[in-house]
Amino acid sequence: MKRRWTRKQAVGVMTTVMGISAGHSPPVAAEEFTMSASIFFEVTFSKTGNAGLGLDLRGTAHTDVGWRTNVPPDAVRSGAGGYAQVVWCLRGASPRVSVGVHGAFQQGRGRGIWDFELGWLYQATSGFEPGGHGLQVGAIGADGNMEAGLRLSIFNSNQGWVPQGHVHGGLRLPGLFGASLILGGGESIPGRPQHDADGVCLGRIFMRRTRLTRRPTAVVARRAAVGARWAVAARAEAASIPTFVGLAQDLRLAGAPDALILRALTAAQDEVRHAVSSAKIASRYLGQEVAVEIPPVRAGDADGDRTTLLTRLAVESWQDGCLNEGTEAAVADARAAKTRDNCVKRTLKNIAREEATHAALAWDVLRWATETGGDPIRDAVADAVAESGVARLPRAANNPKGAGQPSGAARAQIAEAVRAAATDRWRAEAI
Ligand SMILES: [Fe+2]
Ligand SMILES: [Fe+2]
Repeated sequence: MKRRWTRKQAVGVMTTVMGISAGHSPPVAAEEFTMSASIFFEVTFSKTGNAGLGLDLRGTAHTDVGWRTNVPPDAVRSGAGGYAQVVWCLRGASPRVSVGVHGAFQQGRGRGIWDFELGWLYQATSGFEPGGHGLQVGAIGADGNMEAGLRLSIFNSNQGWVPQGHVHGGLRLPGLFGASLILGGGESIPGRPQHDADGVCLGRIFMRRTRLTRRPTAVVARRAAVGARWAVAARAEAASIPTFVGLAQDLRLAGAPDALILRALTAAQDEVRHAVSSAKIASRYLGQEVAVEIPPVRAGDADGDRTTLLTRLAVESWQDGCLNEGTEAAVADARAAKTRDNCVKRTLKNIAREEATHAALAWDVLRWATETGGDPIRDAVADAVAESGVARLPRAANNPKGAGQPSGAARAQIAEAVRAAATDRWRAEAI
């Protein structure tokens, strides 16, 4: 009996067979599958020499440690899949086609990706050279969206075996491992995630594909990059929840007034809303359901002496609240003014308003801790004020177009303005 497939079933089978990540998870052990395309220019070294323009399409099933977990910076990411490639050889105006397999790996966050390929090759006969079938091996290095590589090929023509070497450079979109949710060095960290000697602790992220995406690949890739930024924001916002719960506990241990403890708990509730709304925007842009886990509350130092606790409360309030949350409030305000997406605008305005109240809370905690603890606290804060500067504030990097993020320079300007105003205020109020 002839079986008729619905469009959705047909696309489902296609996406499974071809591995196109368009709404259905392919049945592979890897966590993610990315389709990426590159255009490149190559120079061919052979008896006759040539140059060409190429197009390469490759699918990669890969471990995507960055999507779901807080990974150590040197965690290896690897993947494998297939590729199809066509090069238009300029001299002789003939195509060369290659299809094969490739394997890629990345030794740590923000590092380059190495990719190796092995495939069948067909060089068409041109006006000045005979063609034939053969093999191709290649090694490619990619950094961000740029790549360069070396390929060696050999094909059997009617005049015998013809060896060739090809050097190429080009542009790949998206990267072989797709958009990354790993926080790289220097990227912006919104909210007030807990941090220790190893850096910030972000909420783990969970994703589930929800619907078939019918948009063109380029649009999906661009939206995915924007969604990835929002997913990172959701992780940081979720990580801010235990920060404020911990702050409330520390305030209670230090004997702070109930009003301050209550405001810390209210801030924790604000961060829940920030995390949920950021995850919702990420879901919409990624076309996948995104949820974030809330990291555990860091254990407070119940046995430490009160001066140590007050010092930590005051210094953290200055760095994480007065400066970082003050900066984040201003950045969210600037982003809200820029974006044309009404839902994003509403969310950013809300985040800006509430981050400003968190910065205000930090000022009040700083003042209370200093007044309560006296000179040792005042001296520690004075050191922190002297140390603080734009250099220690996180900057935005690699912001995709459409994310509405200010550039690194614009963010640094905002951070510097907040720092200068906060330093003036700290001096003027003689806290
Ligand atoms: Fe927040
Ligand atoms: Fe906040």
